[in-house]
Amino acid sequence: MGRRPIISFATSKGGSGKSTCLVTLAGVLADGGGRVAVIDTDPTQTVARWGERTGRPGSISVYSAETEDALLDAIDEASSKHHVILIDVEGRASIVGNMAMGKSSLVIVPVQPSEPDGHEAAKTIRAIKTAARAHEREIKFCAVMNRLQGAIRSRAYHDIVAQFQKGGVPVAASLIDREAYRRVFLEGGTLWTLGVNREDQRRPLEKAQREAYIFGEEIGRMIGLIRDGGGTAASDAIADSAPDTFRKAAVVDLAAADGETIDEAVDRRYEELKIEKSA
Ligand SMILES: Nc1ncnc2c1ncn2[C@@H]1O[C@H](COP(=O)(O)OP(=O)(O)O)[C@@H](O)[C@H]1O
Ligand SMILES: [Mg+2]
Repeated sequence: MGRRPIISFATSKGGSGKSTCLVTLAGVLADGGGRVAVIDTDPTQTVARWGERTGRPGSISVYSAETEDALLDAIDEASSKHHVILIDVEGRASIVGNMAMGKSSLVIVPVQPSEPDGHEAAKTIRAIKTAARAHEREIKFCAVMNRLQGAIRSRAYHDIVAQFQKGGVPVAASLIDREAYRRVFLEGGTLWTLGVNREDQRRPLEKAQREAYIFGEEIGRMIGLIRDGGGTAASDAIADSAPDTFRKAAVVDLAAADGETIDEAVDRRYEELKIEKSA
């Protein structure tokens, strides 16, 4: 098998949702039939601990690598057996973190709708550009708006999205603050292996799955895991030399339609994607 796409999750703002976004993406890609390697380089080892819990699908492998050599070894070992490699990067600047970004085809920057998050995201994007220069290769990047509060799109959300748009930073997806994302870390497994203990958990879990699915589709398109207008994460992840279908400035504003809540927008986008894929 050829070189596998590597996606890093980075931002200098702690608690933005790097590990949450990584585990969510691993879950959706695995649910689509992909084999996913996850490498935790963050000393907090949040993802490594998650990997030790029960429920993790066999198609997701977890490596812990806190040094440069360990990271290179993990990438070498993972490449032959997986379709995609996801790397969790520690918040503060580090050699391992720079190496992870330098190896990546895409760096995902999770951003909560707050001024400090927006500020650190901008700093992180400058660091990604520096890594691209240093490694003399293209490194794509995108923001993911995380922990949005229910139906309300705050002033900070609009400000940050507008700034990203102006600066040519694609916003790949928006994730709402949902209990299901926390349950994945507490209980292990993915959004697709979590059971429902109570009937009233069913609908919120389904919402999270739909939201994660949209996230997975957008990321897949950005790095050519999924071709525009067709193919699932599964079938196309398996294509060895997927075409580059990165859509520049693909700002997916889930909140586009007037008077629509984010939850309604998730359902709308989910249905649109289903129709696009069956066309
Ligand atoms: N979309 C979300 N919904 C609910 N909780 C979230 C969400 N994103 C992050 N969290 C919670 O916020 C905290 C920090 O997230 P985490 O992914 O660990 O951030 P980081 O890896 O960037 O430090 C964790 O407790 C996590 O469960
Ligand atoms: Mg983390």
